[in-house]
Amino acid sequence: MAKLLAVNVGLPQDVPWQGRTVHTGVWKHPVTGPRMVRRLNIDGDGQGDLVGHGGEQRAVLVYQIDSYRYWQRQLGRDDFGYGQFGENFTVDGLPDDEVCIGDRYRIGEALFEVTQPRVTCYRVGLRMGEPRMAALLVSHHRPGFYLRVLTEGLVEAGDEIVKVAAGPEGMTVAEIDDLLYLPGHPRGQLARSLRIPALSPGWQTSLRALLDQADTAPGQPAGNPGLTSAAGPPPAWDGFRPLEVTRIDAESTSVFSLTLAAPDGSPLPFAPAGQFLTVKLRPDGGAPPLVRSYSMSGPPGAARYRISVKQEPHGAASSHLRTRVRVGDVLDFAAPRGSFTLKSGDNPVLLVSAGIGATPVLAMLHALVAERSTREVWWLYGARDGREHPFAQESHALLSRLANAHERICYSRPAPGDREGVDYGTAGRLSVDLLGRFGVPRGADAYLCGPPGFMREFPAALAASDLAPAGVRTEIFGAGPPLTPGLTGVSTRPVHPPAGPPGTGPAVAFARSGLTVGWDPSYSSLLELAEACDVPTRWSCRTGVCHTCESGLLSGGVAYSPEPVEPPAAGNVLICCSRPRGDVVLDL
Ligand SMILES: Cc1cc2nc3c(=O)[nH]c(=O)nc-3n(C[C@H](O)[C@H](O)[C@H](O)COP(=O)(O)OP(=O)(O)OC[C@H]3O[C@@H](n4cnc5c(N)ncnc54)[C@H](O)[C@@H]3O)c2cc1C
Ligand code: FES
Repeated sequence: MAKLLAVNVGLPQDVPWQGRTVHTGVWKHPVTGPRMVRRLNIDGDGQGDLVGHGGEQRAVLVYQIDSYRYWQRQLGRDDFGYGQFGENFTVDGLPDDEVCIGDRYRIGEALFEVTQPRVTCYRVGLRMGEPRMAALLVSHHRPGFYLRVLTEGLVEAGDEIVKVAAGPEGMTVAEIDDLLYLPGHPRGQLARSLRIPALSPGWQTSLRALLDQADTAPGQPAGNPGLTSAAGPPPAWDGFRPLEVTRIDAESTSVFSLTLAAPDGSPLPFAPAGQFLTVKLRPDGGAPPLVRSYSMSGPPGAARYRISVKQEPHGAASSHLRTRVRVGDVLDFAAPRGSFTLKSGDNPVLLVSAGIGATPVLAMLHALVAERSTREVWWLYGARDGREHPFAQESHALLSRLANAHERICYSRPAPGDREGVDYGTAGRLSVDLLGRFGVPRGADAYLCGPPGFMREFPAALAASDLAPAGVRTEIFGAGPPLTPGLTGVSTRPVHPPAGPPGTGPAVAFARSGLTVGWDPSYSSLLELAEACDVPTRWSCRTGVCHTCESGLLSGGVAYSPEPVEPPAAGNVLICCSRPRGDVVLDL
């Protein structure tokens, strides 16, 4: 008979870590006597970061005493106390390779159901004083698991644990954990896992993404879409290759397009609508190269690529492209990338953009026309005035070729010559309110791109609106929002070279942040260097298992330490556990 050895609780506290502060509830301590277990927490327990931990599906974390013994041997430690692994229940019995998702257990007065394995996060490493712990728990098949509380009640150390129902499919915690994190992801196992209603919605979403990949692109080396949206097919070429500028066209006062072709005239690889190219420019005078990305704005599948650039006041790369580049020049480009691409379906499509954000959605409009789409398509665009309205003729002509298209143009400050009802429909800024008034349909797939202020508010407002879109996808023309779970007081400083003397190692370019710095071996990973520069980063485990830090590696190579549990998609890098092997350009 399995037994509850300890009930461990702890409230979140601020803990110093690597010169920063983490707000975490990972420190749990055993309590004596009966404790009430409620739907969301044991009395006296709490989580510091409710995005990654806690909630109904992750109310109680369980870890086995047999795994304590295992890790004591593996790590050569003898200092473990109950709650050592951040768990609420330390149990004798219930091993991860026997307990199944959906199993139900009665402990004391309460009834529980197994919902998912433990979340892989750096905080267990922080608690254990062993930074690799999150990856070790996965690679050694001993993650522990979460319980949902079906019936609230008192529990106490010493209670017997009685299994009252077996989960359907009989898939163990260790099997499910391996299925998501380890290479392989057998299709049959994925399908089985999705037949377990008790599996938490988060895990179902991840495993469904893996199943979709197995169905649509079997055998393709596309990384792990269950863990990251950065997964995808390999880039069409490694590093940078030369492309020739074959045309330059003005699109508005400040926007101009460059058409690009292979210098030998060979066709360029297909790129899905919405993807971007990255250019490396070499300014005069020995300054470091400028690396910038530009969404493709032309029809996908054309023999040539087209990018459209807004000349920013004092913008280094956009000014260089405008003033220095001529037809016939050859520039270095990294292959098309990005997951902001048009998804197939029958529901309406909203292409919503403002300013220079029109570029990727214009490519999508081209794609819809090329496939003679009968979907309801809405082109919703905001510009300042007619002089700053690129692609006016082109988008209008494309829309006229679609069976079911609607066009709404807003000018925030129409100029004296701009004609209402001809050049634009509405004076004012494009807003979610306006979309409602335009009669935009509910349940559409929405694609949004625009200036920073627009992107800060519009996507969330649209997702929360009565229009209830089926999906809201966004492209950000710069560094994405950081994800730093549990850290307090995260810096909002603009990016900068790290403090101290410049690194003398290989050049590390952060393309989205427009910063190139020298590597210094005192950093243990590219993530640490990025943090020293305040480059926005996303991470969770910091040891190569969760893929939250997976980023585009636009050129160069890296060495891993530790090796990732599953490698990233080709052309990507896990920055938390890698160092540059030479000059690298990162899509960060
Ligand atoms: C995925 C992706 C897709 C993109 N697609 C496009 C696209 O389709 N079209 C496009 O035009 N851009 C696009 N961008 C943005 C593009 O990569 C560049 O960031 C943009 O061209 C500005 O680069 P820059 O070198 O000209 O400006 P930077 O020199 O990097 O300057 C950045 C900003 O600071 C301002 N600035 C610089 N110096 C000064 C100063 N002394 N005083 C005041 N302000 C100053 C500039 O005006 C500019 O707004 C995209 C970015 C990404 C990540
Ligand atoms: S942060 Fe988890 S793999 Fe890098």
